[in-house]
Amino acid sequence: MSDVLADMAATGSNLHFHDLHPTPADMRAEVLVGLALPQKRISPKFFYDAEGSRLFDAICELSEYYPTRTEIGLLRDHGAEMARLLGRDALLIELGSGSSLKIRTLLEALRPAVYMPVDISREHLLQSATDLAAAFPALRVHAVCADYSTAFVLPVDHHAHPRAAFFPGSSVGNFDPDAAVVLLSRVGALLGSGGRLLVGVDLRKDVAVLERAYNDADGVTAAFNLNLLARINHELDGDFDLDAFRHQAFFNQAPSRIEMHLVSTRVQRVSVAGQTFDFAEGESIHTECSYKYSVEGFRALAAQAGFAPERVWTDPDELFSVHCLVRN
Ligand code: AVJ
Repeated sequence: MSDVLADMAATGSNLHFHDLHPTPADMRAEVLVGLALPQKRISPKFFYDAEGSRLFDAICELSEYYPTRTEIGLLRDHGAEMARLLGRDALLIELGSGSSLKIRTLLEALRPAVYMPVDISREHLLQSATDLAAAFPALRVHAVCADYSTAFVLPVDHHAHPRAAFFPGSSVGNFDPDAAVVLLSRVGALLGSGGRLLVGVDLRKDVAVLERAYNDADGVTAAFNLNLLARINHELDGDFDLDAFRHQAFFNQAPSRIEMHLVSTRVQRVSVAGQTFDFAEGESIHTECSYKYSVEGFRALAAQAGFAPERVWTDPDELFSVHCLVRN
């Protein structure tokens, strides 16, 4: 942790910062492997540098991007019931906490003993956790900088409290179903038997609505996608020409997922961290999957990870779902 971050972390006595050190070397190794695959791909977890986090927050404000406001509406309308199910004085773990805006709608009702936001984006996490700890002085905040898609150990003794997890935003949809089962199983192991998971899941719907959400008129999603290449240029000594790639997003029916790609508009050779990669015209880097589930489909997946359904809330237009699941 840099001195600046250490100073910030020391400002509030109710804030503790645990750095599990996802490093630039981890990103380099993963990106180089992904670019060498026949279908080039880069994990969406690398979208979230400072600029990517800012662009994602802007996406959440777009009229086309219905998930954020719909989920927040569900949290507002049903927060009291959600809090009753999760219980007071819990150790509340949030996966991919980002700006920690959604949890604010639940904190008053939930009154967790400890709030543990987990996020891969170090500066953004620290800023958000600092703001939250200042706004809720009675709340103990243990922020954890970690890549939650890999196994990690909770940095505080979590057996002292009942445990609950909050996994909003349909980020679980970023994982292929097999990987989502592995991830949810790990979350279940952190929670233990009887632990509850509150998870936001985007629903299957009209393709035009889905595709508009990932192809907004202002090009914010395109900028978010292309920023991945800018980040690689900065952090991994890459030489991507951002003008020679275009944003593409479409719904793939059979696997029921939105796919985002960056499509090369010409034949080109790109260098990253000293290695070169060739692109044909029209060849893409697959940068994100965003799976869409029916309520039953997601319950079946969660069952494979050892979770039983307890309740589900959806909005009247059936755009989005929030599930409360109990670990067997
Ligand atoms: C944060 C993964 C849920 O898949 O909708 C938004 C990310 N990508 N627009 C999603 C995203 C493009 C978002 N998740």
